[in-house]
Amino acid sequence: MSRLTITPSGPINSAISIPGDKSITHRAVIFSAMAEGTCTIRGYCDGEDCFRTINAIRALGVSIEVSKTELRVFGKGLWGFSEPQHLLDCGNSGTSMRLLTGLLSGQDFFSVLTGDRSLRQRPMGRIVTPLRQMGAMVSGRKGGELAPLAIQGVRLSGVSYTSPIASAQVKSAILIAGLLAEQPTTFHEPARSRDHTERVLQYFGVQLDHESDTTIRLHPSALTARDVAVPGDFSSAAFFIVAGLILPDSRITIRNVGLNHTRVGLLDILKTMGASIQTLNIHDDAGEPVGDIHIQSSQLEGTDIDPKDMLRAIDEFPILCVAAALAKGHTRITGMEDLRVKESDRITTMAQALGRVGVDVDEHPDGLVIHGRGQLHGAECPSHGDHRVAMAMAIAGLNALETTTITDIDCIQTSFPGFLNELQQIAPTCRVETS
Ligand code: S3P
Repeated sequence: MSRLTITPSGPINSAISIPGDKSITHRAVIFSAMAEGTCTIRGYCDGEDCFRTINAIRALGVSIEVSKTELRVFGKGLWGFSEPQHLLDCGNSGTSMRLLTGLLSGQDFFSVLTGDRSLRQRPMGRIVTPLRQMGAMVSGRKGGELAPLAIQGVRLSGVSYTSPIASAQVKSAILIAGLLAEQPTTFHEPARSRDHTERVLQYFGVQLDHESDTTIRLHPSALTARDVAVPGDFSSAAFFIVAGLILPDSRITIRNVGLNHTRVGLLDILKTMGASIQTLNIHDDAGEPVGDIHIQSSQLEGTDIDPKDMLRAIDEFPILCVAAALAKGHTRITGMEDLRVKESDRITTMAQALGRVGVDVDEHPDGLVIHGRGQLHGAECPSHGDHRVAMAMAIAGLNALETTTITDIDCIQTSFPGFLNELQQIAPTCRVETS
């Protein structure tokens, strides 16, 4: 279990690119495996989570060639998969487990999905319940609430399902199962979650009707392979966006980042807090909006965050907490109970981490109130095995008065293996050391 020590940094002036989007990479791999033909995925995310999906798809008999910059997936169509000989290990990746359960529920064979200790504690009933309504035979610990999940594939029926939570993983599991069903499937969610699945499916020629902003109807059909260019991951860019804001006299440009509206809530929240951020050169790539982000250091002010904006910044909660810790006044985050069942209980882990670096925080069941202060202290912060907590506290360390140590940082590999190198390059005046 490696540790990171990081010393305070001077201003940052840099133009960088960020590795590919993790959510889009998972989907591009799964849908190109389900498509007829060969597909090249450029600029993919090389984090461990995406390799969990790649290796699971390979174990289902689909060839995938991997080079440093691209993946080549030799799709076999909806029914070309074969029974895996072993357990499919999703590691830390909730996206792999939930999306693959949708795929495997409709195949003509038996399979078992498992994951690491964190993933085996995360809720799976949210996908198992609607999949069972489609006829799926899925069992798991606690009646199917927890992995490992054992799946006996069957021919599925279309469903009309109203989800009690806004979750892109739930929506995607059901839409993937819907591709394998005999009738159309309608999915309704209480608020719009990220929509990469819908965009990749349409790009691959599947008919989807948007009945409203939160209701989608999918007509089962074959997928046509097309090459995908994956934009930079906004969730990885977020760490450098906040670094640029909180370090005085800094300017950062981040090129070629995904700017999908359902993902960039952090930009809107930070702008409300007084951040100087511009998006430039916006264009479309493989059905996704992409552009450059320019950041200039800014004095932030605390705010009450609208849960609808926070839903569009769900994975940015840890780094937003760091920004709020350095804002003038109080920042209130509410309506976010689901943060307790991410890679860690992010409400508690961030409340504790901020407390260690000297910030007053009130913890509530559904969020935090963060009382901002001018400067952070250095401290030892455990990551709790959560990649986004580790990276957020590394950015906090740039602004601290003393050295910051983060323990158990191997988890950074799950989404952003190059993070520490990138950080050292853009912040040459700080020392980034692992042991
Ligand atoms: C993801 C959806 C979100 C997000 C996760 C990735 C996806 O989870 O937090 O990191 O790729 O679909 P939920 O769908 O559970 O909100």
